[in-house]
Amino acid sequence: MSPVAFVYVLHVLAAVLWVGGMFFSWMILRPAVIAALEGPARLKLWLQVFQRFFVWVWCAVILLPVTGIGMININFSGFQTAPRYVQVMIGLYVVMVALFLRVSTLNLPRLRKAVEAEQWAEGAVTLAGIRRVVGVNVLVGIAVIAIAAARPGF
Ligand code: HEM
Repeated sequence: MSPVAFVYVLHVLAAVLWVGGMFFSWMILRPAVIAALEGPARLKLWLQVFQRFFVWVWCAVILLPVTGIGMININFSGFQTAPRYVQVMIGLYVVMVALFLRVSTLNLPRLRKAVEAEQWAEGAVTLAGIRRVVGVNVLVGIAVIAIAAARPGF
């Protein structure tokens, strides 16, 4: 594999890992957990899930701009000459990171505290907040992948 192809593969894998993970947790795990577990067990499970998943999201958060900027320099010789869809990708990346940082620095510590203190009602409210933010982020992520794959000529 050429170095250029390797950078491209890393970029796409990072995108798939992040967006696919959010899609799985929203569309599959969330309804399955509601069907199978009671309140406290649900909150404990989600805390474990987020703590593990967010390590991989951090890898994607770092890999996407590093590989993306690499491709901009290789494919388009700079930001100014990069197509508009790449600029849209960068803008939506900033939105996705902002939403992720909100969940990982504000909501997740709150969820951890509620679970440790066995304050299940507080934990449920925090989890609902995380669900909303992740719901928005998965939609933004799908839009970025669709735009990247379609490469519209706007
Ligand atoms: C700072 C952030 C980012 C930069 C600088 C960047 C840059 C790029 C560049 C230069 C390409 C190659 C485009 C081409 O050769 O036509 C690309 C492709 C791609 N990007 Fe990004 N990107 C970023 C973030 C993201 C994010 C957040 C996602 C999705 C969550 C994403 C998903 C993709 C995908 C799926 C492709 C492959 C498109 C295809 O060839 O079909 N990128 N990106």
